[in-house]
Amino acid sequence: MASSTSIPPLGLGTYGRTGAEGIDAIGTALEIGYRHLDTAQSYDTESTVGEAVRRSGLARADVFITTKVADTRLAPADFMPSVRQSLETIGVDQVDLLLIHWPVPEAVVPFESYMGALKEAQDAGYARLIGVSNFTIALLERAEKLLGKGALATNQVEIHPWLQVPTLRDYARGAALQLTAYQPLVKGQVSSDPVLGRIAGELGTGPAAVALAFLLAEGHIVIPASASRTNLQANFDATTIILTSEHLEAIRQLDRGYRHINPAKSPRWDD
Ligand SMILES: NC(=O)c1ccc[n+]([C@@H]2O[C@H](COP(=O)([O-])OP(=O)(O)OC[C@H]3O[C@@H](n4cnc5c(N)ncnc54)[C@H](OP(=O)(O)O)[C@@H]3O)[C@@H](O)[C@H]2O)c1
Repeated sequence: MASSTSIPPLGLGTYGRTGAEGIDAIGTALEIGYRHLDTAQSYDTESTVGEAVRRSGLARADVFITTKVADTRLAPADFMPSVRQSLETIGVDQVDLLLIHWPVPEAVVPFESYMGALKEAQDAGYARLIGVSNFTIALLERAEKLLGKGALATNQVEIHPWLQVPTLRDYARGAALQLTAYQPLVKGQVSSDPVLGRIAGELGTGPAAVALAFLLAEGHIVIPASASRTNLQANFDATTIILTSEHLEAIRQLDRGYRHINPAKSPRWDD
């Protein structure tokens, strides 16, 4: 069972896992042993996540479910109704983790307003843990001032071997804040990396699993996505891979600040 304060280090990204195929893919992941599912109001996968969990026969308490309030639902009149809608769509009384998906400019919705609403959602029992996504260090510092140290369980951001965000990583370590690495495989592109390929060859695994093992060794939570049983299994098995210090050092050298997700609404990144 998920403990009250911790997030399982390996989760399943569910972006794109809609409809009957989505329910099947999420169900396969649960069969393999995944116990952490990452959805969002904007993915249209809250219902498939809920349905896959119900069909799995697992107890609700055994699966950690994260959802995210969309940047279009942060205004005071929209925030709480959107959270209640998420709970209804998933079919649960409470999510394990509720995130602000993207920060928005002050002129759209004031920071204090939506961060206060996030805390209220937790106080109302709609979420066991709260956190943020796509937050810069500057925004994390503001959040800590507003809500106190330790109030946020995670900042979910793009991290992979080609984007290691060392400044944010060091800040988060100092603030006892866990980072969740989204798009940890750069949509599968990391499979072409020759260094990851060389290490994978030595360990008898695949480059994607090596990338995940590296991120886990760095202390991050990872949420890779896949619709294939083989890849779901390989990614799940990444938790058992032990990389040597030479491997870790070689992968650290791969950081080249390559940001794959950078829409116009992104904050001004500070790492
Ligand atoms: N907070 C945010 O703003 C944000 C933004 C983006 C993503 N996310 C979250 O992060 C999750 C993961 O990101 P993502 O889905 O964009 O990309 P990703 O996990 O980096 O990559 C998924 C892709 O990699 C392939 N893949 C998976 N395992 C593989 C393996 N072992 N070997 C080779 N290829 C493999 C998959 O293909 P197959 O299906 O063929 O395996 C799929 O095309 C999302 O689903 C979502 O939950 C959050």
